[in-house]
Amino acid sequence: MSTEPLYGGNQSRRITTSDLQAAKLRGEKWPMITSYDALSAGIFDDAGIPVLLVGDSAAMVVFGFDSTIPVTVDDLLPLTAAVERGSTRAMVVADLPFGSYQESPAQALNTSMRFLKEGKAHAVKIEGGAHMVPHIELLTKSGIPVMGHIGLTPQSVHQMGGYKVQGRGDAGDELIADAHKLVSAGVFAIVLEVVPHELADRLTKEVSVPVIGIGAGSQTDAQVIVWQDLLGMTTGKRAKFVKTYADMHSVMSDGARAWASDVVAGKYPDLEHSYE
Ligand code: KIV
Repeated sequence: MSTEPLYGGNQSRRITTSDLQAAKLRGEKWPMITSYDALSAGIFDDAGIPVLLVGDSAAMVVFGFDSTIPVTVDDLLPLTAAVERGSTRAMVVADLPFGSYQESPAQALNTSMRFLKEGKAHAVKIEGGAHMVPHIELLTKSGIPVMGHIGLTPQSVHQMGGYKVQGRGDAGDELIADAHKLVSAGVFAIVLEVVPHELADRLTKEVSVPVIGIGAGSQTDAQVIVWQDLLGMTTGKRAKFVKTYADMHSVMSDGARAWASDVVAGKYPDLEHSYE
């Protein structure tokens, strides 16, 4: 285990679950970002992001679906392998897609093994609370690090009746109870999505593993975000928690338009970009 900070440290080997646990004990905050290809993985890895999540959000930002539900294991496996190949330091976490683990602990084990063997992921993430305890226990007993995910779990969007804030009122105590059960089952970290910030603060203080917030306020141990939201690639109405740090949509659109105009005007390629 390293004592280097997770973000901004000099350590060059892959980040492990022990490093994340050590950061929790030091009270150190850290970023996790999604990635779905080798180039973006390399950029985020070079930027020092310690954990890359190959999210099932690929369903929307890579494959163009309107929810995470349709994406499959066969869709996500090559993306996971690309992210692992494109990075050298970050821990790569593979999201198990809807329908690939809920059926039974054995199904979860089978799918996770594929992500570790074929995708070269270092850990898997699964959505759900207490009902996922048997699955998590089997995975962790089998040597597979598991990241939990509670609060707004997008794979259950139809049951939740939309992408709504979770854990308000009495539901907050249930969420905290779920978090404790996941920790007892063996998760090394928990994603906590779209819950009131006071609840996230309480939950983060109560549990012993790192809590990674998204729409959960500033007091969680870590933050995760979909990179296309963070860097302004997506357009239209964004969730309240999304703050954009770049305008990739304009950069790409302006670049494509400038090139297209030059092509139409016969200005590209000029002699400098042509062969003798
Ligand atoms: O799929 C995903 O990108 C996620 C994060 C937003 C937590 O699950």
